[in-house]
Amino acid sequence: MRSSRTPLARRLAALATGALTAVGLFAAGATTAHAADTPLRTLGAAKGKVIGTAVTGSKLTGSYGDIAGSQFSSLTPGNAMKWGSVEPTQGSFNWTEADQIVAFAQAHNQQVRGHTLVWHSQNPSWLTNGSWTSAQLSSLLQNHISTEVGRYKGKIAAWDVVNEPFNEDGTYRSTLWYNGLGSGYIANALTWAHAADPDAKLYINDYNVEGVNSKSTALYNLVKSLKQQGVPIDGVGLQAHLILGQVPSTLQQNIQRFADLGVDVAITELDVRMALPADSTKLAQQAADFKSVVAACVAVTRCVNVTVWGFTDSDSWVPSTFPGYGAATPYDENYSPKPAYYGIAEALGGSGTTPPPTNGACTATYSVTSQWNTGFTGQVKIACAGASLSSWKASWTYGAGQQITQAWNAGCTQSGSAVTCANASYNGSVPDGGSVTFGFNASWSGSNPVPTVTLS
Ligand code: XIL
Repeated sequence: MRSSRTPLARRLAALATGALTAVGLFAAGATTAHAADTPLRTLGAAKGKVIGTAVTGSKLTGSYGDIAGSQFSSLTPGNAMKWGSVEPTQGSFNWTEADQIVAFAQAHNQQVRGHTLVWHSQNPSWLTNGSWTSAQLSSLLQNHISTEVGRYKGKIAAWDVVNEPFNEDGTYRSTLWYNGLGSGYIANALTWAHAADPDAKLYINDYNVEGVNSKSTALYNLVKSLKQQGVPIDGVGLQAHLILGQVPSTLQQNIQRFADLGVDVAITELDVRMALPADSTKLAQQAADFKSVVAACVAVTRCVNVTVWGFTDSDSWVPSTFPGYGAATPYDENYSPKPAYYGIAEALGGSGTTPPPTNGACTATYSVTSQWNTGFTGQVKIACAGASLSSWKASWTYGAGQQITQAWNAGCTQSGSAVTCANASYNGSVPDGGSVTFGFNASWSGSNPVPTVTLS
């Protein structure tokens, strides 16, 4: 299947998989953004780079699954392999989502980055609330690592064994592990992971270690000393949760110094957050930021993988973690590639696919939010990026006798099967980077297919 789909093809695919949503497009420029003809994973392979994304297992169908499977050559479970996810109650395991992601990756010829084995966050409460001797803590950790790494032996290309061990000043973070076991927990965790899967590449992963600074220098010194001691350490992960316009100028130099130490480097969690709302200037800066991060990796042979932390704004940790910020990923919430997507493609040598930066569009997304035996509630979200509206009209044709009974935040009329909804007095204006949503109740019987919405 071609990875890059036209809006029509995407809509058909969404219908074929039963997704109750459809997108209508109103282009402000001559053309709208289409995914590059050559998928990112293919462009990456030509440069010797694996291109990955974090994913949520339950979403791997429809357009989300199509993009995850076709554009990327590596998947990282966003949460599914964390201790709190896999062993919520001591001794009782839940591997469902992790297994699903691994199976999806195998079906799509993708690597999996295991994430993560030893961390201070997202641990089960039985573990964090327990009181353990250091011998008990050590054996809990060893069992956890042996069990999880052992389960996926041969299926995981790389493990983020230790996550976020440092403070900003380069001292060790005070955690369950450091406080209970001392800094030796890091070497032990790597050694246990290696014993459970000798072929997996083993990483230490952290944030704010992208540029040369106190924290990345502490990581550098740790890796150097682990290597001197013969501890199995294969790579460092630079998370790269970045802020718009703030790619560190020493990124490439920093990647290079780790490579010179004899370890691989991966950009493991790349996103570039911006203060909302997004607008075309910010989206262009974001494209430049993604491009320069990927270019820094391309410039260093031992930089082996660039992974984005969610490929769509609809599946990003940013809005809930950094209030007021968002739009941090390469695809918008409707799965259209943003300028950032083309920034990545360009850094990987893709050409001729970048839409002009002034090009923008407003889209209308119809979805059924709840449905019962005779009726349903629906909504239409009108969102603009790189374009704006001062008034709008959304029209569609019902294919199965549906009848609107009531609408809010728009004035809707229906004549036969033709529905037209115009803005209310207070929500005609949709700014660049903004959106409005209106809702309605309607009746249905037999079937309730999703119509195509035209915006005018
Ligand atoms: C985040 C997930 O994306 C969220 O869904 C979850 O609520 C919190 O964790 N550094 C990491 C990742 O190593 O595991 C974190 O993932 C983001 C920061």
